[in-house]
Amino acid sequence: MLKFALPKGRLEKKTLELLAGCGIEVIKPDTRELIYYSKDKNYSFMSVRNVDVPTYVEHGVADIGVVGKDVLLEQGRELYEPIDLGFGKCHLMVATTAELADKPYPYNLKVGTKYPNIAKKYFLEKGISCEIIKLYGSVELAPIAGLATHIVDIVTTGLTLKENNLKEIEFVQASTARLIVNKASFKMHHEKILQLIAKMREILKK
Ligand code: PRP
Repeated sequence: MLKFALPKGRLEKKTLELLAGCGIEVIKPDTRELIYYSKDKNYSFMSVRNVDVPTYVEHGVADIGVVGKDVLLEQGRELYEPIDLGFGKCHLMVATTAELADKPYPYNLKVGTKYPNIAKKYFLEKGISCEIIKLYGSVELAPIAGLATHIVDIVTTGLTLKENNLKEIEFVQASTARLIVNKASFKMHHEKILQLIAKMREILKK
């Protein structure tokens, strides 16, 4: 049995659609059960938090996972990343209040973010020093509430920025969902994983 770790929500739904296209029928119960199976019982699925997917796969508890490139860049794990799945498109950017948007970065730049490593690297490469404030959600609140001057966060539709009167000022990195594979699992289930990857590539090309 191949074990998948999937992030709850939209990426999970898209992955199950892709697997259905590959002929893998999955029965996801409408309950709070955290493990479910394909109809043929050849695959199991663990429902985990987005940011926890690489942990499950790197530890080999799951053989395969699906997660955003943003998370992979932030975490820098030892994993194979054979396919860009194309869905889950978003990008990382720097945003701030309308008031600060046209001004140069302040000397006391404070960046609120769920992506401290990406943010640190981004400003370091620009030669700008900043204080990073690690957040776990509702990042857009930070500049409004005065916790940070700027944020580094993902944008999908742009609605959260718009409705909170924030402006995107710099593009940092594009992101899409990636298939990730545990290195030992790749050796152990070589045939099965290669077949699955080939089928996925075929479907994604259409
Ligand atoms: C993400 C991200 C933004 C929002 C962007 O948060 O951190 O807040 O989505 O989406 P949009 O451009 O379509 O408005 P998420 O929904 O994951 O919730 P969180 O704030 O709890 O992390």
